Parts: sequence; structure tokens; C-alpha cells
Amino acid sequence: MSNEICNCMGITREEIINACKAGNLKTVEEVGEATGAGTGCGGCIDDIQQILDEIQ
Ligand code: FES
Repeated sequence: MSNEICNCMGITREEIINACKAGNLKTVEEVGEATGAGTGCGGCIDDIQQILDEIQ
């Protein structure tokens, strides 16, 4: 299993978690603004949402 969540932008799970904690991000849109994740094909959006759910 790859640690990379967003293949379009090359964003890893760890980067998303760190950005969420640093910026108190609550939505997929906010993660996209902060990291670029989810702003390409959109195929990783469910995975980003799952990470958000896990850390809340
Ligand atoms: S894999 Fe994240 S936008 Fe395409």
C-alpha cells in the first residue's frame, strides 16, 4: 500500500495529516487549498475525507 494519497499532486497521507493539524483543516476543499491534494482528477477525494474523519 502506497503512502501517497493523491497521485496527481504527489501528496502523501502524512502531508495531508500535517496540513490538517497545522491549519485546523476540516474539509476536503481546505485540504485542497493547503496542499493541492484533490485538485487534479478528484479520485483521491474519498481518501482525503477518510483521513479527515480519522483525525477528528
Ligand atoms: S489523485 Fe488526487 S486529484 Fe487525482
